[in-house]
Amino acid sequence: MPRLLVVHHTPSPALHSMYDRVIDGAGQPELAEVEVVSRAALVASPVDVLEADGYVLGSPANLGYLSGALKHFFDTIYYPCLTETVGRPFGLYLHGNDDCTGAVAAATTITTGLRWRPVQDPVVVTGRPDRDDLDRCWELGAVAAATILDG
Ligand SMILES: Cc1cc2nc3c(=O)[nH]c(=O)nc-3n(C[C@H](O)[C@H](O)[C@H](O)COP(=O)(O)O)c2cc1C
Repeated sequence: MPRLLVVHHTPSPALHSMYDRVIDGAGQPELAEVEVVSRAALVASPVDVLEADGYVLGSPANLGYLSGALKHFFDTIYYPCLTETVGRPFGLYLHGNDDCTGAVAAATTITTGLRWRPVQDPVVVTGRPDRDDLDRCWELGAVAAATILDG
């Protein structure tokens, strides 16, 4: 069964609402053949990454960069997964108070190094997520799961 791994750092209600919508989108009935596995970024392991077929990554912007939690995830999995996950699809959502530029750049640099393939542009939300923002999160989850299903 194809597997989507959602790796997230969710320290606030804003990020939790985005995370919920990603999970809803990935888990819609039309995509029931995709198994959705969720791991907090601080506990996700290289085995979780190796055993999945694609990923959705979620983080706040912190101090002009990714959260330390998602950076820790990448530090943990980078070399153990570098060879075996080349070309796998991933999606990204980020939340900040006013500016996620550095976080987007960091995620782009790291995933380029891993040679992961973006399924679409990142979903970037600043301030309180509105309905459109949450719909974009739902779509991100759905697109990531559908991409895995298509192989
Ligand atoms: C230590 C710290 C650093 C932060 N740095 C940034 C930042 O560089 N850019 C930004 O847009 N938001 C920044 N934020 C805001 C967080 O991204 C925001 O708190 C998080 O996404 C959760 O959103 P909420 O506080 O509205 O619930 C920072 C927050 C903290 C606690």
